[in-house]
Amino acid sequence: MAGKLVIGNWKMNGRREASAALVNAMLADSRINRAGVGIAAPAVYLPLLESSLSGSEVTLAAQDVSRFGKDGAFTGDISAAMLADVGCRYVLVGHSERRQYHGEDEAVLRDKLLNVLAAGLVPVLCVGETLAERENGVYKDVIRRQLSVLEGLAPHQVVVAYEPVWAIGTGKVASLEQISAMHADIKAWCLQIQKSDASICTLYGGSVKADNAEAILSIDSVDGALVGGASLNVESFAMICKAADKLV
Ligand code: 13P
Repeated sequence: MAGKLVIGNWKMNGRREASAALVNAMLADSRINRAGVGIAAPAVYLPLLESSLSGSEVTLAAQDVSRFGKDGAFTGDISAAMLADVGCRYVLVGHSERRQYHGEDEAVLRDKLLNVLAAGLVPVLCVGETLAERENGVYKDVIRRQLSVLEGLAPHQVVVAYEPVWAIGTGKVASLEQISAMHADIKAWCLQIQKSDASICTLYGGSVKADNAEAILSIDSVDGALVGGASLNVESFAMICKAADKLV
């Protein structure tokens, strides 16, 4: 077993030289350079990472994809087939920053999911509630609605990442109880929505750091981590990958 899955999400950071140096430093670290680790880089740097990662088992991920499936007049868009062409395996779909800043809703995300699957890639559907939604008690309805885009899709085809919006980039981590309860709910809801009893792979994201990774990844219902800020630093990302490697 390769341990639990860890995907680093670099978000909109880095330049060509710095990204090349970062990925090469990561590949030189045996805690990171192994199966079960992925890096989601900005789209323009995917080819650069693809060549650095060749020969390594670290997988390449994209942070977003076009909602349109066929080539054509969609200026600025990048299709799932293009992401496959530059060596991606995973594609983040519906990250809260996409929902928040680009107004992505369920209809758009459903199109994206289907396009990613049609290209033979693995979508990582990101779901998560805002602080207001948690505090006023509607957060379970919110997550359930966000998961509804999975209807009819086979569980083994999709990874779900639970990223509470209030824990992203804030240093505020959900408690182990909150993470454990929500992951169990997500798995149960996915089984209902996807009408299957197969296992669902769920990642946790939101201020995962070197010092909390082991506790979070030790939760049974957590199958891995989606890491933002800490994935831009070799040592902290290595510590997280190492914590994940010990666990299955
Ligand atoms: P941080 O780890 O920086 O909180 O970001 C989490 C995230 O959004 C990963 O997709």
